[in-house]
Amino acid sequence: METLADAIRTLAVRGAPAIGIAAAYGCVLAAMNAPRGAGFEEGFRRRLDILAATRPTAVNLFHSIDAQRRVFEEWKSVEGLENALLRSADAMREDDLAASRAMGRFGADLLKPGSTVLTHCNAGGLATAGLGTALAVIYEARDRGILDRVYADETRPLLQGARLTSWELDRAGIPVVVMPDSAAASLLRTGSVDAVIVGSDRVAASGDAANKIGTYSLALAAKAHGVPFYVVAPVSTFDMSTASGEEIVIEQRGREELAVTGNMRILPAGVGVYNPAFDVTPAALITALVCEKGIIHSPDRDSVGAVVTGMDRT
Ligand code: MRU
Repeated sequence: METLADAIRTLAVRGAPAIGIAAAYGCVLAAMNAPRGAGFEEGFRRRLDILAATRPTAVNLFHSIDAQRRVFEEWKSVEGLENALLRSADAMREDDLAASRAMGRFGADLLKPGSTVLTHCNAGGLATAGLGTALAVIYEARDRGILDRVYADETRPLLQGARLTSWELDRAGIPVVVMPDSAAASLLRTGSVDAVIVGSDRVAASGDAANKIGTYSLALAAKAHGVPFYVVAPVSTFDMSTASGEEIVIEQRGREELAVTGNMRILPAGVGVYNPAFDVTPAALITALVCEKGIIHSPDRDSVGAVVTGMDRT
């Protein structure tokens, strides 16, 4: 289980839904690794706390660990618990795939024929149970024959766009052009992008959405140039207990991610770094939120509440 926790910490497993699903399986390992006998409950709960401390922003992590805690509380006995937790983790994985398919269909309805889409970070199969959030829309648009091409931000500093999104799309035969994050505003200004589509790590009750650092500036640029900005996220990424984006904890990552490029140390030793992993895009900049339950146009507290209430996986 420590290996799995480390994989989440070091981003070997990353992307909000994938983190949540991995953590659900981590809870199975926690049950397997906890000492038998009187110390079981304490050992099991301590391991769940270790998993919960791996990354702070993606709410899927906390939703899935809470769900597994409930399985433990309902099950009560150690006997059969591992199988119950495993069934629950399998169900989360299957639900996520089904959600991706539904989001792909809803999201593609927002696109016109011949669309060029700009995306940020990686919100594809490598971030989910296998299909994606933003990229599920792109795959569906391709299948419908309405997609022209995709621009992918390289996504500084860890390059999820350059390393993961370009690999996924190229492998799927989708024309993809990678660019520096800093090129996005000027590309949007040319009028050649029809929609910006991104995923999210946590959507607050207000509709404010946290996502990979750089998403907020992309949303501002999209607004300035009249390009629709869509956030695609399953219900498992909504956090109705967080009132607004201001309450979302933003993960700060280490100095080395900025100080070292490849094998080369590029920052002088005394220089400080500011390295937030995420930012928050206010709902007012989001043209629509897409989840597996449908499309929330011009999201706000009421519309988000109306669509998400009744969610059964949190
Ligand atoms: O730091 P990461 O790589 O885990 O950040 C991932 C993102 O920001 C994704 O865009 C988000 O999780 C949506 S994934 C479907």
